[in-house]
Amino acid sequence: MSNERPNDRTYPPPADFAARAHVGSIAQYREMYEQAARQPAEFWGGLAERELVWFEKWDKVFDWQPPQVRWFAGATLNASHNCLDRHLTTARRNKVALIWEGEPGDSRMISYQELHRLVSRFANVLKGRGLKAGDRTIIYMPMIPELPIAVLACARIGVIHSVVFGGFSAEALKQRIQDLEAQVVITADGGWRRGKEVRLKPAVDDALKDCPTVEHVIVAKRTGSDTNMQPGRDHWWDHLDKEVGDVCPAEPMDAEAPLYVLYTSGTTGKPKGIVHSTGGYLLQATVTMKWVFDLRDEDTYWCTADVGWVTGHSYLVYGPLSAGATVVLYEGAPDYPAYDRFWRIIEKYRVSIFYTSPTAIRAFVKQGEQWPASHDLSSLRLLGSVGEPINPAAWDWYNRVIGHGVCPIIDTWWQTETGAIMISPMPGATPTKPGSGTLPLPGILADVVDLKGNPVEPNTEGYLIIRHPWPSMFRTLWGDPQRYEDNYFKKIPGVYMTGDAARRDEDGYFWVLGRVDDVMNVSGHRLSTMEVESALVRHPAVAEAAVVGKPHEISGQSVVCFVTLKKGDYDQDVLGQELRQWVAREIGAFARPEQIRFTEALPKTRSGKIMRRLLREIVTSNSVTGDVTTLEDLSVLTRLAEQHDDD
Ligand code: WTA
Repeated sequence: MSNERPNDRTYPPPADFAARAHVGSIAQYREMYEQAARQPAEFWGGLAERELVWFEKWDKVFDWQPPQVRWFAGATLNASHNCLDRHLTTARRNKVALIWEGEPGDSRMISYQELHRLVSRFANVLKGRGLKAGDRTIIYMPMIPELPIAVLACARIGVIHSVVFGGFSAEALKQRIQDLEAQVVITADGGWRRGKEVRLKPAVDDALKDCPTVEHVIVAKRTGSDTNMQPGRDHWWDHLDKEVGDVCPAEPMDAEAPLYVLYTSGTTGKPKGIVHSTGGYLLQATVTMKWVFDLRDEDTYWCTADVGWVTGHSYLVYGPLSAGATVVLYEGAPDYPAYDRFWRIIEKYRVSIFYTSPTAIRAFVKQGEQWPASHDLSSLRLLGSVGEPINPAAWDWYNRVIGHGVCPIIDTWWQTETGAIMISPMPGATPTKPGSGTLPLPGILADVVDLKGNPVEPNTEGYLIIRHPWPSMFRTLWGDPQRYEDNYFKKIPGVYMTGDAARRDEDGYFWVLGRVDDVMNVSGHRLSTMEVESALVRHPAVAEAAVVGKPHEISGQSVVCFVTLKKGDYDQDVLGQELRQWVAREIGAFARPEQIRFTEALPKTRSGKIMRRLLREIVTSNSVTGDVTTLEDLSVLTRLAEQHDDD
């Protein structure tokens, strides 16, 4: 990966694709971009009129008092009404909304009409537990239909939901429940992953030992295994369902009312609760389905992300359902029972749009072409990538082996904070270059600048920023408005700092290079070095820890920990294993470190800050260059590098 240089091979959109696309030429893209930049209120106001159903219209399209923004103030709408009810008066009413495939091979097809009924019933269940607009739920579930149903049921009655990825540990779950002060937890007995049951309810029980705000737990039955139910607090979903009716009107919500909170990693040990709005968020999630995915009614659309991440929120639930798509939802692992599971699913349902991560693609590259080759992938017409930079070799493989050279590839750059795709090709308009997200979408004033906010020269590295507010931007951090301002809008006043480094080439194309802060990206999942460090120092044997990301062939980065121990006699092999396991238990299996390296001391500046940059250099190149004059104890560094030689 490291010896590949970004190149400027370009791939124009295939002519037949462009001829039918929502946006069919680069001239049309430029015209949209210009209009949005010149007249943002007219541009977004017009889209809001056309793309969403409102109960009441807005007084003003947007109001920007940096860093605070309001979009469509005074308007009301409901996200679940836009995802469901509006389709019931059209030919989509009996169209399949969700195609669900369970890992063991069971499946379910749910039409828009049926999904509307199931969501309304579950919204009534939530009302029956006393929930009302502004209350909060935590959703901790496997990828089963009840997950999007729970999400949409919350939205229907204005309850703020926070989905916690099922791979998170009880400890991580507890932190999020406490921070949100949730009243209800929605979960399942368990789910299937690689043929094994992943139990969820026991983790909920563990977490709830310390969560006094939670009054009810609703448990969907998936695996049927023995489940401990606490009388009065815990209820089976199907039992509660028997008590309610099919009718539940969608609550008119203020456009600015929080729709959900999604926790993501920042640069401290405490995750940040990203708060998204109802109107602006839904608008951009919906329009990008057309601009970026070129969605048509006859498409079968599959996004492989878990609903627990923002990609699952915007491009598995809200965006595609609001746009009336048929969406595939798959419960399990890509390699179960064999490495062709994804290709099997594409063939089985004739998937036409496929959206996945570079980590998944690199894992498939490694397994060989025979897996996709044994399946008919001719239904595909568009391929997408998200979550991390895609290296040109993986891009080429995706293009050739999966897309057979005829599917445009959209490399979509965005973040939990941005709510929707920001930089991406429009597949019928934008010539692509492998490894580049190409150009910002209309309305997105992205730039690459120095710390004064001045644009840097072409092909020079700088900070990726966004100058003008956009409808789906996050509104604050839950319970911490100061951190919202300090983290994102302070360095260059009034300008949104993405935390990514990038460069633009001579064609104005963006090449995102990675994070500039202490956030790692492991298999496309954000993980803060501090979060892992805090987990490590909770272990009784650990005195201090410093964590860095190391380039990894498949997952992009892997977690490497430098640990100093308290006094005592330890078997380092045993303890190393134990600590890896410990982190997995404290945060989640995806955070399990690849390496634990014991050291006598950590390299620090005179003011006591750990110099992660040096540790990163050690794990990457095993040599240390650059400025080390601020180091307190240089010998520490030498010892760390020597130790590596012995490995
Ligand atoms: C990285 C995921 C390069 C980036 C939607 C960003 C990418 C972080 C890309 C956000 C891409 C995401 N090319 N890098 N196409 N997409 N990233 O919040 O570093 O989980 O800041 O949102 O992932 O991760 P998050």
